[in-house]
Amino acid sequence: MRRFAGSRALAETLDRPLRIAHLTDLHVGTVTPHAAQLAAIEAVNAAEPDLVFLTGDYVCHSLEHLDELHDALRRVAAPMVGVLGNHDHWCGAPAVRRALEGAGVDVLVNETRVLEIGGQRLQIVGVDDGRTGHADVEHAVRDVASGLPTIGLSHVPHEADALWEHGVSLVLSGHTHSGQVAVGRMNELFLAGLGGHRYIHGLYGDRWGRRFPGAVYVSAGIGAAVMAVRMGDRARREVALFELGALPGDFDEHHAEQDPRPVGRALAQAEWELWRSRLRGGWLKA
Ligand SMILES: [Fe+2]
Repeated sequence: MRRFAGSRALAETLDRPLRIAHLTDLHVGTVTPHAAQLAAIEAVNAAEPDLVFLTGDYVCHSLEHLDELHDALRRVAAPMVGVLGNHDHWCGAPAVRRALEGAGVDVLVNETRVLEIGGQRLQIVGVDDGRTGHADVEHAVRDVASGLPTIGLSHVPHEADALWEHGVSLVLSGHTHSGQVAVGRMNELFLAGLGGHRYIHGLYGDRWGRRFPGAVYVSAGIGAAVMAVRMGDRARREVALFELGALPGDFDEHHAEQDPRPVGRALAQAEWELWRSRLRGGWLKA
């Protein structure tokens, strides 16, 4: 469970604080133990959130385990809003969507919804999966009203860049699983180097809106699509909590905001420098 404050824009537009639980990449199926998904939902309920946001990849390689998805999500004791991920599209988006809606999830497909929770309105922009070419940010934001507290959901983190330009100051995402092996920053090396991902795990950008127009949170999620192995603190299964209305600095957070990871030539140079300094620092001497 990792806990973070929201953005300045959210704090300025909310009349009262809201606690959001963010859950992603459940991946029901044979790779991820069902106990892991149930434990995550227990943790979500224990945090007593006002809302639960889900950012895709509910299934793994088939639609055979939708009953487990329903079994897990029907236990959530708060309103749920979600978007789809690449595995949901690969396996069959209409069936996954029906299962989600049957469990009480409001599924957003490139659209904006305004919810009212205890008299507080919150505008949610849901972007469909970008990995499979279904993301349409322009369509998703067409009904966005200015002046309302607004948060974005996107399975693929890099859609955040376009959402920031439309005034969405905080975006929640998943997809990377934090590389699942985060020892020695291997996840960054592989996801940024081979995958071209600028956002690997955790908070990126700027919730104050100074250095970047907004921030994106990339959760390590719960499940896996290939192997259930997870190594290193940053790759642990996680539920993220966001205290909307609180400001960065109001309480201790797991880590500070990061800059987007360099990719391409910039990455090659940065990684080379890192590994050279490690070698000089003792790995060769040892
Ligand atoms: Fe995933």
